[in-house]
Amino acid sequence: MKTIIEIRNLVKKFGDFSAVDNINLDIKEGEIFGLLGPNGAGKTTTISMILGIVKPSSGKILVYGIDNLKEREKIKHIVGLMTQETIVDSELTAYQNLEIAGRLYHISKNDIDAAIQLALEEAELTEFKDKKAGSFSGGMKRRLYLVKSMIQKPKVIILDEPTTGLDIQNRTQMWTRIKELNRKGITTILTTQYLEEADQLCNRIAIIDHGKIIALGTTSELKKMISKGQILEIITNKDSVSRIMDILESKFGLKSTAKEDKIESFVEKDEVETLSKVINTISKEKLPLISISLHLPTLDDVFIKLTGSSMRDTLGENKSDRSSVMLKR
Ligand SMILES: Nc1ncnc2c1ncn2[C@@H]1O[C@H](COP(=O)(O)OP(=O)(O)OP(=O)(O)O)[C@@H](O)[C@H]1O
Ligand SMILES: [Mg+2]
Repeated sequence: MKTIIEIRNLVKKFGDFSAVDNINLDIKEGEIFGLLGPNGAGKTTTISMILGIVKPSSGKILVYGIDNLKEREKIKHIVGLMTQETIVDSELTAYQNLEIAGRLYHISKNDIDAAIQLALEEAELTEFKDKKAGSFSGGMKRRLYLVKSMIQKPKVIILDEPTTGLDIQNRTQMWTRIKELNRKGITTILTTQYLEEADQLCNRIAIIDHGKIIALGTTSELKKMISKGQILEIITNKDSVSRIMDILESKFGLKSTAKEDKIESFVEKDEVETLSKVINTISKEKLPLISISLHLPTLDDVFIKLTGSSMRDTLGENKSDRSSVMLKR
C-alpha cells in the first residue's frame, strides 16, 4: 500500500515538556489507522501537527508529498478534521451549518446544494435539514459535524476521539459510518481512548503514551507481541467454578482466575490440543460446560503489559461490556 502521510522525528514541546516525543509514522492509503492512548498521551497534538494547525518543535510531515507547513491551504482540501469537541452552530439549521462549511471550502454556487443534500443524506438528517442544530441530540450533532468536516470531499479524514461521550447505540452507528467511509476509499486516522474501538475499526494501531509510540502493528500483531499463548475462557455454573479450576491446575498445570461463572486461564502452548483435552476431562467429570473457547489476549492486556498502567471501566454505561473499557491514567 502506498504511503500518503510520512511523519519523521516529530517533536512538540511546550516549554520543557515534550507532548510529542520523536514520533515516526507512515500512514498508508485506504487504511483506518488508530492512535490509541490515554488522556494527555499526545494524540490531539500529533494530529494537529499533521494538519499544520500546531507547528512542530522539530521534525517533518509530508502529506501526499506536500510539506504541510508550507502549503496549509492545499492540505485543508486533502485532509478533513473532526475535532474532539463537536463544532456546529446551534442557532443555524443543519442545512445552514453545511452551507457555511461549503463556502469556507469555496464550493461553487452550482455545486453547493447538491453537496449539502448528499451530506444530509449520509448523516441521515435530510428530514431535519431545516431544524436548528441546537435542538439535535448528541448523536445527531456528531453526525452533522462529521459530514460538515468532509464537505470538501477530502481523501483523508482525521477523527479525534469520534465517539467519546456518545452512548453505545450512537457509538455503534458512528463505527458503521466510519467503516462505510473506508469502503469508499477514504483513508482514516482516528484517535481513541477506547480499546474496543481501535480493535473493531483499525487496520493498524499505534499505541501512544507520554508522547511516544510504544507499539505499532495490526491488532493481532500487537496481541501476539505480548505472548505466544492464548486465553482459555470457560463459562460454567457458579457452583462448579472451583472444581473446574482445580482440574485445570492439577491435570493441566494451568493457573486460572474466576469472576462469577467465568474462568480464564492463560495457555502458553499447544492451545488447541489443550482445549480438546480440557473439554474431554470436564465432560468425563460430568461438570456443566456452558461455553468454552480460546482467544488472543485483548488490547487491554497489551497496554498493561507495555505501560504498567491499569485501565478502568469509566463510562458507567455497562461495566461488563468490553466496549466501555477506556484507557485512563
Ligand atoms: N497548548 C498547550 N500548552 C501546554 N501544554 C499542552 C498544550 N496542548 C497540549 N498540552 C499538553 O500536552 C499533552 C498532550 O496533550 P494532547 O491534547 O495531545 O493529549 P491527548 O492524547 O489528545 O489527550 P486527550 O485524550 O485528553 O484528548 C498533555 O499533557 C497536555 O496537557
Ligand atoms: Mg485529545
